Amino acid sequence: MGNCKLLVLLYLFSTATSLTISRKLPDDLVLATASSSYQIEGAWNEDGKGESMWDRMVHTRPDKIVDHSTGDVACDSYHKIKHDVELIKSMGLEQYRFSISWPRILPYGYANHINLRGVQYYNELIDELIANGITPVVTLYHWELPQIFQELGGWTNALIVEWFEQYARVVFDHFGDRVKLWITINEPKQICWFAYSNGSLAPGLEISGIADYICARNVLLSHARTFHLYKNFYQSVQKGKIGITIDCPWMEPATNSTNDYKAADRARQFDFGLYAHPIFTPTGDFPEIFKKFIAERSRAEGYQQSRLPSFSENEIRNIRGTADFFGLNYYTTSYTKDRKPHPIGKPSSLKDSRIENYKDPNWLIGADPSFRSVPWGFRKILKYIKQNYGDPDVFITEIGFPDSEKFNDTKTVKYHNDHLNELLDSIQVDDVKVKTYTVWSLMDVFEWMRGYTVGFGLYHVDFQDNNRTRTPKLSREFFHTLTRTRTVMQEI
Ligand code: BGC
Repeated sequence: MGNCKLLVLLYLFSTATSLTISRKLPDDLVLATASSSYQIEGAWNEDGKGESMWDRMVHTRPDKIVDHSTGDVACDSYHKIKHDVELIKSMGLEQYRFSISWPRILPYGYANHINLRGVQYYNELIDELIANGITPVVTLYHWELPQIFQELGGWTNALIVEWFEQYARVVFDHFGDRVKLWITINEPKQICWFAYSNGSLAPGLEISGIADYICARNVLLSHARTFHLYKNFYQSVQKGKIGITIDCPWMEPATNSTNDYKAADRARQFDFGLYAHPIFTPTGDFPEIFKKFIAERSRAEGYQQSRLPSFSENEIRNIRGTADFFGLNYYTTSYTKDRKPHPIGKPSSLKDSRIENYKDPNWLIGADPSFRSVPWGFRKILKYIKQNYGDPDVFITEIGFPDSEKFNDTKTVKYHNDHLNELLDSIQVDDVKVKTYTVWSLMDVFEWMRGYTVGFGLYHVDFQDNNRTRTPKLSREFFHTLTRTRTVMQEI
């Protein structure tokens, strides 16, 4: 046993205050890791790549990024295909989730001009993964919108449904012979709420309670259109699966009061239910409570109709059931309490929801305080998905924790060990059909508005070094041991 592996095991035992037992992972649970194009590739203007809305924002609004950094070079993964694949393989992980940069393969956004050098990059990456026995899982959209479309309104322009479909067709045509697992869209909430309501992600707009709802509608329609495109024209030949990734934190009522219970339910509907409910329930529509609260508040504010645009019967039919699996990104949990209505004024989705979220200060804290380790919240969200969204197959497409330690990331190791224990309870006791556990992230990356100030990676990346040297962290050793023993430790 190598020193590092020994260290991991010692760590696990030394934290045990009582007896420790080992628990086996189910044979069919896939262990994986992930990244996304803008966060790792760099080469922002190389080989014919077009400009994305992220390129534009980091270059014109450096104040939007904590350390004023950019993803211009990031981990330089565009030039390190073989090396990166080797990092994954050496841990024994079976799958790698990455995303395609829309403007790298369609520099002008539209499908009129395909950048073959961009296509070649993804071909090489996919081939290298497959040659090394690693299954590629591809996300079509992890937030890299071609800048031209942003100038036309981005996700608030209804034409995006057509633009996205054209892009998806190019992707399926070029890579669908080898890629069998597709995720249309990563995290609608970040695309709509963080980007159009709270303004921290590109394009950085703050038109809350209006633009975020228009965006939500267009994201759902774009996802549904792409799902049907794949089902109708590709799936019978390419034989893959297609779904969407929704980030779902758990929201626990702050007290036993009926008001807080209702508030926690509203918090879930305003956070992820607005995306999951239309796809995964027979209604095909936004959740009732979500529609009701926005409509009532809009009326009180003097709007002639709800600020939430509705779906037609036809659109509802098209959205309903459009996923072969539920892609879940889970990081953390909050408590939720009810709050009195805000005075009438500028609209916002927070005012619409009438909730307040907070974290327990005792929860294990990450390098950024919004990330807390709450393993029981993970089990609760999994059970919620089973009970409310038709007991789907669940692919955990991201889960992770940003440790403040560069290499000796013991908190991250504890986070994963604890969450894997909860996962085992979910599968064995609650009968949730979880198929994949994907660690965010393969290496430290450009963490959006947090720049390079936090790292979730299994490998540390030296962003000062031209080589972007990757160094294994303790969590990397944990996963290496896990893929061989397929065993987690539990204190009893
Ligand atoms: C995103 C990742 C991001 C991670 C950690 C998720 O919301 O999909 O791109 O890096 O959270 O912040």
